[in-house]
Amino acid sequence: TGNRTFTMIKPDAVENGHIGAILEKITAAGFKIVAMKYTQLSRRDAGEFYAIHKERPFFGELVEFMTRGPIVAAILEKDNAVDDFRALIGATNPAEAAEGTIRKLYAASIGENAVHGSDSDENAAIEGAFHFSGREVY
Ligand code: CMP
Repeated sequence: TGNRTFTMIKPDAVENGHIGAILEKITAAGFKIVAMKYTQLSRRDAGEFYAIHKERPFFGELVEFMTRGPIVAAILEKDNAVDDFRALIGATNPAEAAEGTIRKLYAASIGENAVHGSDSDENAAIEGAFHFSGREVY
């Protein structure tokens, strides 16, 4: 048993039919899914989840994008989960993402970048708890 990270398959990747391929890459890389749901964020949910970006010029666009359709939210477990997952998804900007990474394969732009990955153990815990109750984690 390892430690945990939190991910979302974002509306662009869901719209484009990439849920299955992305989950396959995640599990093939050794991550165990310990919680997962298909859901759609409200504007309030997205505003709260991305509160840290509230003053950024792209905040409105980010909330608009993240609420425009359903997402898949999941908590993943693996040794070194946060760093290994960030390596698997690639740079925030898909144009800068390494070959074979999820964003290189499935993302179109820095805004619509297919997947989220927590940036620290602390944020992984906060973000996981935002989306899941204790009874939804197995
Ligand atoms: P993520 O790192 O998952 O969480 C913050 C998100 O803000 C990021 O993914 C991008 O989707 C978005 N973002 C970051 N920088 C920009 C930008 N310059 N323009 C639009 N969206 C951005």
